Amino acid sequence: MVKVTYVDSANVSRTIEVAPGVSVMAAARSNDIPEIESDCGGVCTCAACHVYVDPDWVDKTGTASKVENGLLSLQETRRPNSRLSCQITLSEALDGLVIHTLEPEE
Ligand code: FES
Repeated sequence: MVKVTYVDSANVSRTIEVAPGVSVMAAARSNDIPEIESDCGGVCTCAACHVYVDPDWVDKTGTASKVENGLLSLQETRRPNSRLSCQITLSEALDGLVIHTLEPEE
């Protein structure tokens, strides 16, 4: 199992354990983690799953693809550690991952 901690915009932490192979977005959605939406079902076309990867984990989560990067560039809230959480697949190497979520836009 892979442990993932989601820290919301009010600094509340929630830790879940999921089987490897699912995305950070899908793991959140199936465990009622707030502030992660999915309008496209995880095919990298909506950016509703925008998150910030904790700085300690940026190197391990890899880099955004060209398509993901294009979507992120349209986000006013983008930071250097921004990712679309549907594009990060959980594996044993990411056990302990910390993700920061954003307050959803109105
Ligand atoms: S869920 Fe749509 S881009 Fe991630």
